[in-house]
Amino acid sequence: MPTYLITGANRGLGLEFARQLSTRGKDTVILATAREPDKATDLARLVHEVLPLDAADPASHAALAAKLGDRPVDVLINNAGVSSDANSLEKLTMEELQRVFAVNAFAPLLIAKAILRNIRAGDRKTIFNITSQLGSIANNKGGSSYPYRASKTALNQLTVSLSNELKGEGFTCIMVHPGWVKTDMGGPNATLTPEQSIEGMLKLLDGLKPEDTGKFYDYSGKTLPW
Ligand SMILES: NC(=O)c1ccc[n+]([C@@H]2O[C@H](COP(=O)([O-])OP(=O)(O)OC[C@H]3O[C@@H](n4cnc5c(N)ncnc54)[C@H](OP(=O)(O)O)[C@@H]3O)[C@@H](O)[C@H]2O)c1
Repeated sequence: MPTYLITGANRGLGLEFARQLSTRGKDTVILATAREPDKATDLARLVHEVLPLDAADPASHAALAAKLGDRPVDVLINNAGVSSDANSLEKLTMEELQRVFAVNAFAPLLIAKAILRNIRAGDRKTIFNITSQLGSIANNKGGSSYPYRASKTALNQLTVSLSNELKGEGFTCIMVHPGWVKTDMGGPNATLTPEQSIEGMLKLLDGLKPEDTGKFYDYSGKTLPW
C-alpha cells in the first residue's frame, strides 16, 4: 500500500499529481494538503484525505504531523510553491524575499523534518522536492525573478544536505524541475500541459533508487546543471 503525501494539491501540478496517482487503484493511498481543505472539492474527489497545511507556518507543519499520527508515508512530494514579481532590484524587499523563501526553500525541509518519523516508517523513504531550473546558477543567463530563482537555488542546496544526512538510512531525496507548465504559475504560454509534466515526473519517481539521492532532474529524467 504505497502512500503518497502531496503538498499544495488543490490546483496546478499538485492536483494533477493526485489525479494521475488516483488511477493506480485502491492500493495507492493519496494524502494531499491544501490551505483551505473545505474549498478543495476537485481534490477531495481524488484522494483519501485532504489535510490542512500552510507551508509558511511551522505550527501548521506540527499540526500536519499530529493529524498523520503514526501512518507511514512512502513518498513526500513537496510541491507547494509561490512565484514573485520582484523582477528588478527596485522591486526587491526583505518582506518579499522572506515570503518566497519561506514557502519555496524553508518549508519543504521543515515539512520533511516534521513528518520524518512517518517517512522513516515507509518502504520507499522518498522526498521529492519540486524545484525549478530557474534555481540553476549555471543556467542563469537572464536574471530577473530574484526571490524565486534564489529560493529554488536554496531549496536545491538544502535538499542536497538532507540527502547526505539521510542516505545512511536508505532515503532518496531529489529535486525535480517540472518543465514550463500551463498552470496559474506557468501561464498560458508554457510549453507543457500538466498531464505531460506529471506523466514524466511519475515515471522518474517510479524508477528512483537510493543511489539517485541528491540529484537535480527535470521532468523527463534528465539531470540539470547546478
Ligand atoms: N508551472 C511551472 O511552469 C513551474 C515551473 C517550475 C517550477 N514549478 C514549481 O512547481 C510547483 C507547483 O507549481 P504550479 O505551477 O502548480 O503553481 P500554482 O498553480 O500556482 O499552484 C501552487 C500551489 O501551491 C500552493 N501554495 C502556495 N503557497 C502555499 C502555502 N503557503 N502553503 C501551502 N500551499 C501553498 C497553492 O495553494 P493556494 O491555492 O492556497 O494558493 C497551490 O496549490 C511549485 O513549487 C513551483 O515553483 C512550476
